[in-house]
Amino acid sequence: MQIFDKIADMRAYLAEARARGERIGFVPTMGFLHKGHLALIRSAREDPEVDRVVVSIFVNPLQFGPREDYRTYPRDLKRDEELCRSGGTDALFIPPVEEMYPEGFATYVEVTGITELLCGRSRPGHFRGVATVVAKLFNIVQPDCAYFGIKDAQQVVVIRRMVADLNFPVKVKVHPTVREEDGLAVSSRNVYLGPEERQAATVLYRSLKLAGEAIARGERDAARLKQFIEETITAEPLARLDYAEVVSWPDLKPIESLQPGEVLLAVAAYFGRARLIDNLLVEVKA
Ligand code: PAJ
Repeated sequence: MQIFDKIADMRAYLAEARARGERIGFVPTMGFLHKGHLALIRSAREDPEVDRVVVSIFVNPLQFGPREDYRTYPRDLKRDEELCRSGGTDALFIPPVEEMYPEGFATYVEVTGITELLCGRSRPGHFRGVATVVAKLFNIVQPDCAYFGIKDAQQVVVIRRMVADLNFPVKVKVHPTVREEDGLAVSSRNVYLGPEERQAATVLYRSLKLAGEAIARGERDAARLKQFIEETITAEPLARLDYAEVVSWPDLKPIESLQPGEVLLAVAAYFGRARLIDNLLVEVKA
């Protein structure tokens, strides 16, 4: 595995691969890798449409609010390198902040509408930071395929919108959420949890699953489902609810009554200082 911290070196490596006709699969991350990230790397590795797997690790300051955890976001590059290597990564891109945002940087990518609800409402500017850095990474790596987790469902929608609107020649591929045995979605931020908070955090997935079961039993009223998810989460004393929403998929529109097709159940809550999210796509039968 080769490691690059300069954009020019990363590009030179990729130009050579592309000249040999190789197709690039790309997994952007913020590091502190876990089995969710590794599943994305594995699906790139096993993708018949991909010859070279590139992973990036960049804790993107632009997507953190002024009072968020940019400074304390967990980092462990040595371990990440090892995990990437054993996961079958060909090239690892780890640019320093000055390489991505040099003095004078002034251009941003803003996806409108769908970024103003759910996480966008509680984290203003977050998706502008995500879209900007992913656009830059796509321009640097020029991948044929890029891999994202549905755990961050709104992020997937925002990236897909950006790719379509700005004509990036990238196929966006989506991976299911990797979970711990008790259902908690694996996340780099789970290290913030104390033992009791860790236990309490299982309420997120539980609330989504219970709502999914209610839908399977015929519940079609979005407000009732939303209230049910909220009540399940607020019944957990260590959880502080940020939002619970039931929205259409993939356009994230508010809905009153569930229609046949897919619906997104989305939650965010604080457990101590950890803000965790979870998402469940539910098939609504006719
Ligand atoms: P990060 O949180 O490191 O996640 C990188 C990728 O891993 C994202 O596509 C995310 O959805 C996916 N992922 C995280 N946890 C997962 C899980 N439990 N199961 C499956 N996939 C999971 O998301 C970001 O970084 C950043 O916003 C980024 C896209 C890199 C832009 O900075």
